Amino acid sequence: MSRVAYVDGQYLPNRLAAVHIEDRGYQFADGVYEVLAVVRGHLVDEGPHLVRLARSLSELRIPSPMSDSALKIVMRETVRRNGVRDGIVYLQITRGVAPRDHAFPKAATPVLVVTSRRRRPTDPRIADDGIAVITIPDIRWQRCDIKSVALLPNVLGKQLAKEAGAYEAWQVDQDGRVTEGTSTNAWIVTAERIVITRQADSAILNGITRLAVSEIIRGEGYNLVERPFTVGEAKAASEAFLTSTTVDLLPVISIDRDPVGNGAPGPLSRRLLECYLAHTAAVP
Ligand code: PDD
Repeated sequence: MSRVAYVDGQYLPNRLAAVHIEDRGYQFADGVYEVLAVVRGHLVDEGPHLVRLARSLSELRIPSPMSDSALKIVMRETVRRNGVRDGIVYLQITRGVAPRDHAFPKAATPVLVVTSRRRRPTDPRIADDGIAVITIPDIRWQRCDIKSVALLPNVLGKQLAKEAGAYEAWQVDQDGRVTEGTSTNAWIVTAERIVITRQADSAILNGITRLAVSEIIRGEGYNLVERPFTVGEAKAASEAFLTSTTVDLLPVISIDRDPVGNGAPGPLSRRLLECYLAHTAAVP
């Protein structure tokens, strides 16, 4: 089946799907995005993703191109036309097309692009083996709570991780505290089985997976504390893991090559992954 994209009002074969060279997303990264998981044909946590999208748009003063109910229809139709049962939906909205000038254009209509592709579930061996992370300075701007398409520091960080043979890079603020990964949220578990993740301030993206996993942690009766943690604390933790829509939950077994806990995925991380997968599989 050839892939189809929704671009600014039309469903087009991917090879014909294009945006204008003066789209402000292309020239200024003046836009936002969302990535949703499709599991057995349904969109996981669609409501919270749409709430976060509306917030990102409003923080950047980009008008929404359509109502939530219309967006839901476009996402479903894009999923359907691409024959996706398990995969992702990528949605991007930019401020629109206008002659290049930094200030907002007087008249620009936001441009919506929606794509969807199949994705095999994360290889269970990765979750079984656990993954390595490195730490890098967080060189991003001060509004990481906005899901902006401006991802250059994240791109550079992920590449550093890859070159170091790691899966992810945990970004560290000027006080030595971990903010988040380049495309994932960061978590640790102390010896007392307290789960710690940074509070959702403007230094991190408030992940939808983070929200779901937080609810699971509380529901299962574990202790969750939302506060910054240092690299030293993370290295001394008994477990660590990361979360995102695209990888679900992955146990972290080393940080900068230092083993976390006994260097293998911990029991709490495994349990939370199980619960999270059940959450994604549950039809809303
Ligand atoms: N990334 N932090 C950052 C910087 C992210 O880019 C993401 C998601 C997350 C996790 O958010 P969520 O749980 O809502 O997926 C945290 C997406 C998947 C991406 O850029 O592909």
